[in-house]
Amino acid sequence: MTARSPEAVGVVGVGWVGLVTAACFASQGHEVWAMDVDAAKVERLSRGELSIHEPGLPELVREHQERLNFTTSMDELLANAKLLFCCVDTPPTYSGDADLSRVLSVVEQLSGDSEHALVMKSTVPSGTGESIRRDLPTLAYVSCPEFLKEGTAVQDFLHPDRVVIGADPGDEWASDAVAALYEPLGGEIVRTDVASAEMIKLASNAFLATKISFINEIANVCEEVGADVTEVARGMGLDERIGDKFLQAGIGYGGSCFPKDVSALKQLAGNSGYHFQLLNSVIEVNELQKRRVIGKLTKHLGSLVGKRVALLGLAFKPNTDDMREASSLVLSARLQGEGAHVVAFDPVAHEGAEGILPTVELADSAEHALEGADAAILVTEWPEFAELDWAAMAGSMRTPLIVDGRNFLDPAQVRAAGFAYEGIGRGADA
Ligand code: UDX
Repeated sequence: MTARSPEAVGVVGVGWVGLVTAACFASQGHEVWAMDVDAAKVERLSRGELSIHEPGLPELVREHQERLNFTTSMDELLANAKLLFCCVDTPPTYSGDADLSRVLSVVEQLSGDSEHALVMKSTVPSGTGESIRRDLPTLAYVSCPEFLKEGTAVQDFLHPDRVVIGADPGDEWASDAVAALYEPLGGEIVRTDVASAEMIKLASNAFLATKISFINEIANVCEEVGADVTEVARGMGLDERIGDKFLQAGIGYGGSCFPKDVSALKQLAGNSGYHFQLLNSVIEVNELQKRRVIGKLTKHLGSLVGKRVALLGLAFKPNTDDMREASSLVLSARLQGEGAHVVAFDPVAHEGAEGILPTVELADSAEHALEGADAAILVTEWPEFAELDWAAMAGSMRTPLIVDGRNFLDPAQVRAAGFAYEGIGRGADA
């Protein structure tokens, strides 16, 4: 018996999800054809140049370059692969609905096709699969949402908790082929219908966002009653039904997924006639959480007019250069609205910040950002911030005040270094 040759894989849209998908399948021995409409990007990728920061990804792309074919031609993709993983982005529109225009332009190119399967990785509202099916009845359709986290995407892809594969009757050949691709990676494979698969993705992200807003509200109550939210979360998390993940209080969630997906689910429910009350609160709590920092500063400094405030970190979380919906954006605008001068340092999200935050002074190190500052706000828990010489930092600041927006630092240590320390839900300096 001869071994079955690995299935060729097509990827449409070589953004962050598409590139991780392409590189990881190539690393599993599959020939990958990855298509994007951006010719300059395809050109750069063909030379092995990546414009995104994702640990392990450049190495993977370089190592498996001979199996990675980047192209702008849909025909080339169709000629070489049966499974087409759709990884184009679905950004939110002004109404909060997902913008499906890029997905639909891919779908248009497959009109009349009965040879291929469209495997939807882009996050789309429930019902999208059904409507594509109505328009293109001969095309096989599989919903295979992605659950990758930025910063650990390669690890997440190669070691998934679960893989969700949704298909409707008639498309079994396609869902079997997708399952066969993922089986070697381990992790439970959840075979279900298309509508449920679409919903699993939105509900998972909305639940995680709810967990964060919940612990943030607990933190706010802790501040009123003198409890420490990190202790509360530790005690809660040991209950297996609750779990200890996503119970870190802070200055709100950000990124390209949570804000967009929570809003998309809320709109989807509303458009279908159901008012999703809980998600309204989840969103509002997250917005207010970013702004509460201002009160923590004014408590110590009074008016912020003319005060120099240093932001440590700009990215929405560590190990990424992504600033989409980052708390730093609202925070810097609010601080400037209060009349403060904002100076910031991020170890990676620096270049992008110049365009996004033109009125923020960008420092080339944490030390330089803190020099002469009236207050510091730890926005992103980059590991290197824990290593700073806090006693020296206290000496170089005009007022040694720190708001630890991620409860990342050891309060006792930072206080011993001479700082007034404010965490989130951890009690305050007198
Ligand atoms: C998320 C989902 O985890 C992933 O499954 C999905 O595919 C995409 O969206 P990601 O956006 O990379 O992944 O970020 P994640 O690590 O989940 O963090 C999201 C935000 O929540 C960050 O801003 C983080 O700081 C915040 N967060 C996370 C908290 O404030 N508290 C927590 O306990 C956990």
